[in-house]
Amino acid sequence: MSLPDLFRGKTYDDFLLRPQKGVVGSRRGVSLASLLTRQIPLELPIVSANMDSVTSGTMARTMALAGGLGVVHRAMSIEAQAREVTRVKRSHGHVVEHPLSLPRTATIREAREFTKRHSITGILIEQTAGSGRLAGLLSNRDMPWSAGHENEALELFMTPVERLITATPGITPEEAERILYDHRIEKLPLVDADRQIRGLITKSDLILARTRPESTKDAKGRLRVGAAIGARGDFLERAAELIDAGTDVLVIDIAHGHSEIMEQAIDAFRARFGETPLVCGNVGTREGAQFLKERGADAVKVGIGPGRGCRTRLETAAGVPQLQAIAECWDVLRDEIPIIADGGNKHDKDIFLALACGASSVMLGSMLSGTDEAPGTVLEDPATREKHKIYRGMTSPEAVFEALYDPTPDDIEAALETPAEGQEMRVPYRGSVEGILRRMAGHLRSAVSYAGAGSLAEARARVLADPASHLILLSEPSRRESYDR
Ligand code: XMP
Repeated sequence: MSLPDLFRGKTYDDFLLRPQKGVVGSRRGVSLASLLTRQIPLELPIVSANMDSVTSGTMARTMALAGGLGVVHRAMSIEAQAREVTRVKRSHGHVVEHPLSLPRTATIREAREFTKRHSITGILIEQTAGSGRLAGLLSNRDMPWSAGHENEALELFMTPVERLITATPGITPEEAERILYDHRIEKLPLVDADRQIRGLITKSDLILARTRPESTKDAKGRLRVGAAIGARGDFLERAAELIDAGTDVLVIDIAHGHSEIMEQAIDAFRARFGETPLVCGNVGTREGAQFLKERGADAVKVGIGPGRGCRTRLETAAGVPQLQAIAECWDVLRDEIPIIADGGNKHDKDIFLALACGASSVMLGSMLSGTDEAPGTVLEDPATREKHKIYRGMTSPEAVFEALYDPTPDDIEAALETPAEGQEMRVPYRGSVEGILRRMAGHLRSAVSYAGAGSLAEARARVLADPASHLILLSEPSRRESYDR
């Protein structure tokens, strides 16, 4: 039976994986490497959804550290979204290319605010504002901790350039590491012969490179991040700012990606931004996948209505069962263009099924919500003391209205006229997303072992080559036996 035939009308809970002879000694070494787009590899093929209750800079940073990727949502002003992207791009790198700095005349109060706002632990000090000439370094250790110095100039407390250990641009990571260790310091400013600031190397970045090799990084060692732009209005202006901020990939996603609006959006994007990696979606049919392939998408986002916060199928009857959608789209795209399976994952086994049946990565909303890294506050039920956070579909009335960051009367009227295809709900508070990602990776590795393979790529190739021998279609009683607990 061909892949699309086997999956017609079917989704995750319709199948079990038929256990194969295991070949894995230790699951720890099982590679989960995959692709996000044609150009961007992932060590953990999990992407956090561009939803305002799931991904801003904090989530995106944690996702990239774990080997996945976060797509920063767009329900905010262009400037605010670009700031979130910048926060991720600046958080790590072989070299901080444009380190933040303050002039030597700035006060200790200003320095404290500056370190807090930018989440940094040391500031390079310039001779005069904007001169770029290094005058010193104010590290956390230099900051006075007794009261009464807030209005004093920071130059009284910084380590002056004459006593600073510096290096020149082009220094190798090994050499930088040796200098940092020899002098027991944590920051190494890079300066040229004129003492012009040319970069900064930090101990924490060097350590990160060694301890988190799975992180999703660009060629400069910076964490990767994606950003959503939509398909209308100011989307090209938004894209330009986000590219400037260093985003690695842009995502045009609209509820119905197989549409003329999408066609115009892709053409306009390519005309202005050329080969910049672009994810397009959402589609759920072979025709939709073919359409995005012909228009040059670098990855295709698949999912019409399976999402937890989503009411599209209930309100319009439009949709495709998610495994059918993945299989149909894979049949067209093969692995020429990676698929991001978006929405409908409730259990870790769903992630494996999506990946084994044609997706190259999965995009998760509700499974990553309710965590510390997701935007929003933790609320406590006064009666039960249970903690929760809010998760909501992006076309829920609540999200639609909050997204109107600078609304014109026309915007408000349009929002009132847009029928809601999303809903808001409470999800239990679940602590850090890091533990959740570790658990998902562990379950994926176990599933690879049950599939008789040594890596996710191998498991996927086996299932795709012969799905009927690797998957068991469930009857209603066998589904209850499997999944009702
Ligand atoms: P999960 O199931 O992971 O789904 O929570 C996340 C995906 O749901 C989609 N999404 C929506 N779909 N109306 C929709 O029809 C909405 O309001 C909505 N908000 C999010 C989106 O694709 C997301 O990645």
